[in-house]
Amino acid sequence: MEVIVKSSIEYVSKNAADIISKLVRENSKAILGLATGSTPVGAYEELIRMHKEEGLDFSAIKTYNLDEYIGLDGDNPNSYRYFMNDKLFNHININMENTYVPDGKVKDINTYCQEYDEMIKEAGGIDLQVLGVGPNGHIAFNEPDQALSVGTCIVDLTEDTIQANSRFFDSIDEVPKSAITMGMGTILRAKKILLLATGKNKANVLKGLLMDKKITTNNPLTFLLLHPDVTVIVDDDAYSLCR
Ligand code: GLP
Repeated sequence: MEVIVKSSIEYVSKNAADIISKLVRENSKAILGLATGSTPVGAYEELIRMHKEEGLDFSAIKTYNLDEYIGLDGDNPNSYRYFMNDKLFNHININMENTYVPDGKVKDINTYCQEYDEMIKEAGGIDLQVLGVGPNGHIAFNEPDQALSVGTCIVDLTEDTIQANSRFFDSIDEVPKSAITMGMGTILRAKKILLLATGKNKANVLKGLLMDKKITTNNPLTFLLLHPDVTVIVDDDAYSLCR
């Protein structure tokens, strides 16, 4: 596991965009796993800049997103489909048909979840999975629990996560109570993982990953210890309990 510590989120974002763009330049058909949340937004802005100023070409790139709220369709500004279009896809030359975000309005969720995993496998697997982490250690929406799912599935969000994510909604009552998320196995099958974490509220779960080095379902982030190719980019605040 490579750990890179930066002084601010700007440098975290720049470094992350450098890693993603290197892959896109080397493999024009790369398959990216993408994340939502505030942490990767700066990296997406830098990728947009690289596209506009340096001609970074996304025309043959495919993307699979980690998760989506149940009940929100892609036109809802709080949906992760809307987020991805708004923060990245609408500003680069990606073919929208090659961008996959789980469908929060799907009827037969269990079949759909299996199909999402199959689709990723059939495409050849994710080359680089970008990850953020929740303050409680959730990755995608795999919440701390007694057991974690292997495949893509529907999950109930914890009160902590509903609270943490309510900042994007007009009121906490509007935050959906459940979501579709890639499972831990889906995430760990990615060939390479790029974890981004900034801010003091991530320090505790980062300590679990980088200092305690024990796998626990209470901190799903620690499952990254099982992956052979993880790069962690953090700011000083997120790294503060690891010194
Ligand atoms: C959401 C997403 C996660 C993300 C997390 C962290 O819960 N489902 O994939 O990692 O938010 O968000 P932020 O980057 O805003 O701290």
